[in-house]
Amino acid sequence: MVAAILTNTPAPGSGYKYALEVKEYTAPTPQSGQAVVKIQAAAFNHRDVWILKGLYPGIKEGSVLGSDCVGVLAEPGSSSVEAGQRVLISPSVNWDSDPRGPEGAFGTLTDTIVIDGKEVFPCPDHLSTSEAAALPLAGLTAFRALFTKAEVRSGDHVLIPGIGGGVALFAMQFAVAAGAHVYVTSSSDEKIQKAVSLGAKGGVNYKDPNAAKELKKQLNGNMLSAVVDGSGGALFDQYVRLMRPGGIIAQYGQTASPKGVSYSMMSVLKNVDIRGSTMGSRAEFKQMLEFVKRHKIKPIVSHVFQGLTQESVNKAISVMDNGQQTGKIVIEVTETPRQKL
Ligand SMILES: NC(=O)c1ccc[n+]([C@@H]2O[C@H](COP(=O)([O-])OP(=O)(O)OC[C@H]3O[C@@H](n4cnc5c(N)ncnc54)[C@H](OP(=O)(O)O)[C@@H]3O)[C@@H](O)[C@H]2O)c1
Repeated sequence: MVAAILTNTPAPGSGYKYALEVKEYTAPTPQSGQAVVKIQAAAFNHRDVWILKGLYPGIKEGSVLGSDCVGVLAEPGSSSVEAGQRVLISPSVNWDSDPRGPEGAFGTLTDTIVIDGKEVFPCPDHLSTSEAAALPLAGLTAFRALFTKAEVRSGDHVLIPGIGGGVALFAMQFAVAAGAHVYVTSSSDEKIQKAVSLGAKGGVNYKDPNAAKELKKQLNGNMLSAVVDGSGGALFDQYVRLMRPGGIIAQYGQTASPKGVSYSMMSVLKNVDIRGSTMGSRAEFKQMLEFVKRHKIKPIVSHVFQGLTQESVNKAISVMDNGQQTGKIVIEVTETPRQKL
């Protein structure tokens, strides 16, 4: 079988520190209790781009990249799911249920198609192959940031910046399903329109110097209870002015401010919390799948590439690095079903 493997031979002029090469790969032999999943499709996350740029901790050459997949359970191991069922894998390996953070040696699903049976969950039936592949990591990150950390509930006014992003779109879909009033930001007016068509109340272009004023106008006297933010962009310092006392900023990423964001005195005076959020526990993954099933939520898939080839992988990374997507980028593995991205 082949897989997309991380190597230290970046293409000249690519600007990356590493490369992704599609080449032959021998899957590990399953150990006691481990499940084997035949991969049908895999999705990309921004972490894959950060890894290529050398901007992620614990990078290991020779790893198989990718943290999201849907597949068919070939060998259940210790899983309670029956062989032959379509499954998703919790991308937060070894985080059981502590809402504060992982109990012990936590990792992100990355280079296995054999995995401890307890990480394997039945896939909601209403999802297509590419929708299913799109769900795990971004869905889990959005679910924890929105509900566990930002404590969003029905009737709240919530801001979700950078709505073109995979996690942001899930956060918006989940918040709308939970009965919150959602506002978004984007670099693209088209993406804002798309968000409105999916249930957002409004949105502003973060490149517009008057974006904060415009958002205040759209809020029409209401205050934000929460901001679920993955960018720490230029507008970040202005969120607090639009927030109610005791509001919460849940931050799951810093795409636009890799050196971090500042915590202002106004935030102190308004009792506004900034809370970091990373992926989620196995318990939250299960809750997220139940929520998606109950509300029949369909992940927004921006691009689907057919076949795990060098060309597909290069195109997928380029789309994500250039921010051309609205939603998730997926590779459907068509010819050799045991491939794992
Ligand atoms: N902590 C975790 O567990 C976790 C999990 C997943 C992701 N992340 C992090 O979260 C971030 C987003 O990940 P993703 O996979 O959803 O990425 P993605 O799909 O590549 O989305 C990135 C989005 O960021 C938005 N953006 C860029 N500059 C911005 C700015 N100045 N202000 C507001 N938004 C801006 C863009 O939105 P528009 O296109 O609308 O302009 C872009 O589409 C990344 O930094 C990633 O590393 C963290």
